[in-house]
Amino acid sequence: MTAPDLAALRDLLGPPGVLSAPADLERYLVDERRLYRGRAAAVLRPDSTHALATAVAWCHAHGVAMVPQGGNTGYCGGATPDESGQQVVISLERMTRVRRVDASAFALTVEAGATLASVQAAAHDAGLLFPLSMGSEGSAQIGGALSTNAGGLAVLRYGTARDLVLGLEVVLPDGRVWDGLRVLRKDNTGYDLKHCFIGAEGTLGIISAAVLKLFPAQSQRETAWLAVDDLAAACRVLAALRHRLGDAMTSFEYISGESLALVLANVPDTSAPQVVSPAHVLVEIAAGEGHGLRETFERALLALSDEGLVRDAVLAQNETQRRACWRLRETIPAAEKQLGGSVKHDVSVQIDRLPALERAARSAVLAHVPTARLSVYGHVGDGNLHFNVLAPADADPVPFKTAHAEAVSTLVHEAASVLDGSFSAEHGVGKLKRELLRDVEGPLAIELMRRLKQAFDPLGLMNPGKVLLPPDAP
Ligand code: MLT
Ligand code: ZN
Repeated sequence: MTAPDLAALRDLLGPPGVLSAPADLERYLVDERRLYRGRAAAVLRPDSTHALATAVAWCHAHGVAMVPQGGNTGYCGGATPDESGQQVVISLERMTRVRRVDASAFALTVEAGATLASVQAAAHDAGLLFPLSMGSEGSAQIGGALSTNAGGLAVLRYGTARDLVLGLEVVLPDGRVWDGLRVLRKDNTGYDLKHCFIGAEGTLGIISAAVLKLFPAQSQRETAWLAVDDLAAACRVLAALRHRLGDAMTSFEYISGESLALVLANVPDTSAPQVVSPAHVLVEIAAGEGHGLRETFERALLALSDEGLVRDAVLAQNETQRRACWRLRETIPAAEKQLGGSVKHDVSVQIDRLPALERAARSAVLAHVPTARLSVYGHVGDGNLHFNVLAPADADPVPFKTAHAEAVSTLVHEAASVLDGSFSAEHGVGKLKRELLRDVEGPLAIELMRRLKQAFDPLGLMNPGKVLLPPDAP
């Protein structure tokens, strides 16, 4: 691989389009969890699809490997360059325009570098809703969210990022632009190419813009904090509420007593909810005008409490209380980070198997390290648990992770696998889980994935070494 000629790239992209001073590069070289630190010859920052395509074509012609990067909030190192110093990072951060809002078609066309929060705001300004939502939405960009098929907090009702896309524009590894920006709800014209790029973590091309689905704004929203006995009770509550509330539920988030305690001890501006127990659920429901949502919700919760499924429930009375409840859920990752980080897991199983997953993972991990601290929480409405393992209170987290991360992760992933689950529900594969992907998916699936990679990126220049291990890896 040759080192890129930065003068040529500057001519193509203009001075703001190419960063190369070490201090300017720093924030692009380290991932959110600080698992990886790479080097790069430059960071390219095109400000349009045309500029992006020009830069990619140049890299393709000169054999320069490219690492696309959105908000750099991913958990698996998928947007961090390698240590060679010869790759370029391509940041989408200057491509933030909302190109079109088609309110009557419930669609919006936006460039890849727009943050999720800004897409939500654009939809809101048009009197509509863009529902993809997560703790990192202020910095996570739509292109990255689509490239990792992000999940988040409203999958139960609206699906993952993949379900929210009508069309895509993609710069291919050779610099050609595939224009699939269609505003069509139905379109069966051959293979659905957009789905090749969604969830591909930038290994097949760079998503430069997307047509996103919008939804009617929800004028009524109710949020409840529930105390329950355990995860099994939470799953029963989920099923009961789905029967009683139909599609009104948007979020059903589980927060163990352990995770809540971590937040209360480590995150400023949090205070204990009115009801505390070994396990909690944050439920949010929403609907348009005229549904009497609050009364329906109250009746449902009362019935569940009469049946003994819910120990106690508190409905948020106003937006401040609602925000306080969400803060207890959304800051769990920050609390873990504050304590030196955790060995994170992102496992999913069919929903009724979640209690078995949690039991198996808990007993296996604690048999291995009896003093480890657990932080178990997640998107129970989607069958997705974050089963995170922290160093014992009196231990240094760095040597703990070095000594135990691999064994602990194997135990948790085995527990999911025995139950026909997934080791990556929403965080992707990146660099971190490539071996797992190879070992778990089996040779045929890996062969098909390699053929796809070869078809889209025969020179192997687009985010090399991510998702799939190099073919010669042991
Ligand atoms: C979350 O749901 O908060 C994140 O996906 C999980 C995490 O930070 O571990
Ligand atoms: Zn999550």
